[in-house]
Amino acid sequence: MTRVFSGVKPTGHLTLGNYLGAMRRWAAVDQHEADALFCVVDLHALTVDHDPARVRRLSRQAATLLLASGLDPELCTVFVQSHVDEHARLSYVLECVATDGEMRRMIQYKEKAAREQRRGGSVRLSLLTYPVLMAADILAYGADEVPVGDDQRQHVELARDLAVRFNQRYGHTFVVPRATRPGVAARVMNLQDPASKMGKSDDVGPGIVYLLDEPDVVRKKVMRAVTDSGREVVYDREARPGLANLLEILAACTGGSPEELSGAYPSYGALKKDTAEAVVEVLRPLQERHKELCADPGYVDGVLRDGAERARGMARPTVDAAYRAIGLLPAV
Ligand code: TYM
Repeated sequence: MTRVFSGVKPTGHLTLGNYLGAMRRWAAVDQHEADALFCVVDLHALTVDHDPARVRRLSRQAATLLLASGLDPELCTVFVQSHVDEHARLSYVLECVATDGEMRRMIQYKEKAAREQRRGGSVRLSLLTYPVLMAADILAYGADEVPVGDDQRQHVELARDLAVRFNQRYGHTFVVPRATRPGVAARVMNLQDPASKMGKSDDVGPGIVYLLDEPDVVRKKVMRAVTDSGREVVYDREARPGLANLLEILAACTGGSPEELSGAYPSYGALKKDTAEAVVEVLRPLQERHKELCADPGYVDGVLRDGAERARGMARPTVDAAYRAIGLLPAV
């Protein structure tokens, strides 16, 4: 059976981008068709300036939202990264296979390092080695597929490169993973700035729809989305990025295609209205389930405890094998 691994980072409230680009497919497809693990990657949240209490709170919220989105612990494994030591254990060994140049070429590193410096902060070493920890997440479980939005594809490519290199140097140890992407909405853009990704770590803004936004807040954000000059509704990502973003969001929420939908709208206003309602309808069941789960914290604790135990059992043999292969003396 195909093994699938993916994760979300608790650096902010989860967004419509996280949901349409990744989470929705995990619940709708991956957990049914594969042996799947989904992880709240809290160690990754420490790579930038953070408030410890907020990271803890957001980790729990992310885990609750994963379950609210439809992940079923009977079908898949849901857990928190720091509860399983194997991630950090393997990350060190992979740092001995990755190169400094490779890390510095990562687009997200360049963007995030520049942002930290603009804010007057220093760049943490863990921000540079972030993609190695992510490779460890994936390789520890022998994942064949990694369902992610487009912004994570370069990191998954690196995980592939490290797996191939390790296997060539030290003998076959790791499955070589590949990224999978959603058909539409692989890159949901900020509603106020369609040239930038809708990102949860960005400052709170009217261009970001959060999964827990009230329906009226969602409506307001979508109705105020920046569109392009022009009247006709056409799907053109290059020339009309704001409009294309709305068409993709609507398509992802309703199951249509952005090209087809563009022909069905006489005006921007009608498109925005339908998009707002479609997003509200997609979020409604998730928000209801989230409320129920918040009232039952013992259930969420139990899922995370069982998930971590299962995950440990899956990761340990592979990480032990990597330790032996690279030349470490097994403990007796
Ligand atoms: P993160 O937490 O930024 O995002 C979680 C998932 O949501 C996708 N995504 C988007 N997709 C479409 N449009 C957007 N605007 C958008 N914003 C986010 C991301 O592509 C991702 O799939 N480094 C990862 C977390 C991670 C991970 C892993 C993922 C750590 N280890 C191992 C997969 C496998 C991250 O920061 O995702």
